[in-house]
Amino acid sequence: MRVWELNAVGIDNLKLVEKPAPKPGPGQIAVAMKAASLNYRDLLHVTMGGTPLPLIPFSDGAGVVEAIGSGVTRVKAGDRVCPTFFQSWIGGPITAEARNLALGGSVPGVLQEKMLLDAEGVIAVPDHLSFEEAATLPCAGLTAWRAIAVEAPIDAKSTVLVQGTGGVSIFALQFAKAIGAKVIATSSSDEKLERAKKLGADYLINYKTTPEWGKKALELTNGRGADVIVEVGGENTLGKSLEAVRVGGSIVVIGVLGGFTNNIFIPALFGKNARMIGISVGSREQFAGMNKAIGGWKLKPVIDRTFAFDRVPDALRAMQAAGHFGKICVSY
Ligand SMILES: NC(=O)c1ccc[n+]([C@@H]2O[C@H](COP(=O)([O-])OP(=O)(O)OC[C@H]3O[C@@H](n4cnc5c(N)ncnc54)[C@H](OP(=O)(O)O)[C@@H]3O)[C@@H](O)[C@H]2O)c1
Repeated sequence: MRVWELNAVGIDNLKLVEKPAPKPGPGQIAVAMKAASLNYRDLLHVTMGGTPLPLIPFSDGAGVVEAIGSGVTRVKAGDRVCPTFFQSWIGGPITAEARNLALGGSVPGVLQEKMLLDAEGVIAVPDHLSFEEAATLPCAGLTAWRAIAVEAPIDAKSTVLVQGTGGVSIFALQFAKAIGAKVIATSSSDEKLERAKKLGADYLINYKTTPEWGKKALELTNGRGADVIVEVGGENTLGKSLEAVRVGGSIVVIGVLGGFTNNIFIPALFGKNARMIGISVGSREQFAGMNKAIGGWKLKPVIDRTFAFDRVPDALRAMQAAGHFGKICVSY
């Protein structure tokens, strides 16, 4: 079977190699992977390192259970599944142990045609989704879901602010609209903002032409501010998120698109009595909650482009160029 392997940092160091197909032992399953999707984190791992090498990258994929080992009853051959991002975080609150096994990081990722997994480390995918669509769920979908449905739960009266039009943000936009909330979408591109409007975004702010977008968000909400901010920018956005959040609102800190550090004006945080919550992806239990909602809404993830399996480096370069809207996928 074909496997993408990284032996040194850099997109050009990704190599397509042949490996023997795995055979499941007791409690394990073999999954024939059909699709994967890219996350910014995968790009960071390939271009900046920080994980043990050699690495089989990418956390997010979907496939079909091909064989099961002895004692496995949770799934059967033929089931359509997604591997979970944190292989051992089944449910309950996050613990240090639950974060140990992250696909495409501390353990081999999904860029292999057949994957050996613990039978507990997968979840059934909603019937109405293609493999590519299902492959967008484990990290991007679940992180957006956990932000606005679990950690800072919204309702139809809420206003949510999403930053940029990448994978997590577009999921947050879609979930928020399905719940009936209002959405403020920001982007560097007017054309992408028009696409966000088609998905239901109520207020649009171009953060390049309106650098004071935090103040603009306050203005658009008659001075009240957003109930929840899905914070993916980090370095150059957190301060403005503090301007945009309402008194008593929540900033769910997820990403570092703009950089890793930030000097925030601390009185703005306590003055607003705002909650700042850091999250990393979610549990299998939260994934099940998301799938139930997605199935009920018949919600379709937004896929910008799909690359063939042998073009993974081009897919990563496309993510690096940041021209995408929603998700970039790989088809096996
Ligand atoms: N904590 C977690 O569990 C978790 C899970 C998933 C992702 N993340 C993190 O969340 C972030 C987003 O991930 P993703 O996979 O959704 O990324 P992505 O799809 O690559 O998003 C890229 C888009 O974000 C926008 N953007 C870029 N720089 C920005 C900035 N400085 N401020 C605001 N928007 C900016 C741009 O959209 P426009 O062109 O529209 O401006 C860009 O096209 C990453 O930092 C990732 O590492 C964390």
